[in-house]
Amino acid sequence: MAFPTNIRMLFLCVMFTTILSNCLVPSVAELRRFEQATTKADGSLSFLVVGDWGRRGGYNQTEVAHQMGIVGEKLDVDFVISTGDNFYDAGLTGVDDPAFDESFTDIYTAPSLQKQWYNVLGNHDYRGDALAQLSPILKKLDSRWLCWKSFIVNAEIVDFFFLDTTPFVDKYFNNPKGEVYDWRGVLPRDHYLSNLLKDFDLALKESNAKWKIVVGHHTIKSAGNHGNTDELIVHVLPILKANYVDLYINGHDHCLEHISSSDSPIQFLTSGGGSKAWRGDVDWWPNPEEMKFYYDGQGFMSVQITPSRVDISFHDIFGNVLHKWGTSKQLYSST
Ligand SMILES: *[C@@H]1O[C@H](CO)[C@@H](O)[C@H](O)[C@H]1NC(C)=O
Repeated sequence: MAFPTNIRMLFLCVMFTTILSNCLVPSVAELRRFEQATTKADGSLSFLVVGDWGRRGGYNQTEVAHQMGIVGEKLDVDFVISTGDNFYDAGLTGVDDPAFDESFTDIYTAPSLQKQWYNVLGNHDYRGDALAQLSPILKKLDSRWLCWKSFIVNAEIVDFFFLDTTPFVDKYFNNPKGEVYDWRGVLPRDHYLSNLLKDFDLALKESNAKWKIVVGHHTIKSAGNHGNTDELIVHVLPILKANYVDLYINGHDHCLEHISSSDSPIQFLTSGGGSKAWRGDVDWWPNPEEMKFYYDGQGFMSVQITPSRVDISFHDIFGNVLHKWGTSKQLYSST
């Protein structure tokens, strides 16, 4: 049976469109890039880091936010980083979930915090509608919001690499508690992870910024409740070492923590004290030389970066600086 030419053309057209759209579906990690403008002449930046926070103000979330506002003002911060677990207990139910206002917009109200927020997803965010947090609709509701699974932020003197760590963790794929995770865009998992690691490694290699900072939700090294994340020690840590990453910043353990490395310059910084904290929940750390600081209450971290120096501080909800650390790098000439 012969179809008229126009019908055949229609078939071809539909087939072609289907093939094309399948090819364009981003089944692999896409590392989007954003530029962070610097207002200071030497490219210096300052920012705050908060993690594990969205509880409608509860568990001292409001108190943490208040102190962030004060410190943010003092340091004239350029932006804020969230290390994930943005909305408890199970992420957002959708783009119209009132938790977005109740846990974010209505909480971080200080003038100094009305800056860009760079957010990653935590394991609790994956238990809701994970894609809702990536939706441009949220940016319309609150222009500060920027969240992708993995992405890069280029500033003049520092490059930030935000890494989607939840899909690395085996137990979420094989969990006896029967928790449901939103793996849209992540499956098949092996494919997703190998592409992500390849893109991540390549992006780090291509970076010629003076400082390199990697941000993820999960710990690499931690003495807190969750402890180390073995999957990240195996797959991610070697890439950080090979590419001279300066700081790895995470949440997940509900504490403030600084662990240094005896075999590399990498500092492991946990800022997961945005709301409910695990008081007293600390493990023995095998290498006391590396353990610089641990606080099991609420708070956040601030970071100041100049072309030659990085300084970090951890703050509690009373305005105390609990711990400070800094390091210098020789200024180099690019000629
Ligand atoms: C809030 O912070 C104070 C001071 O650290 C602490 O004593 C109190 O237990 C915290 N409340 C909650 C609910 O975590």
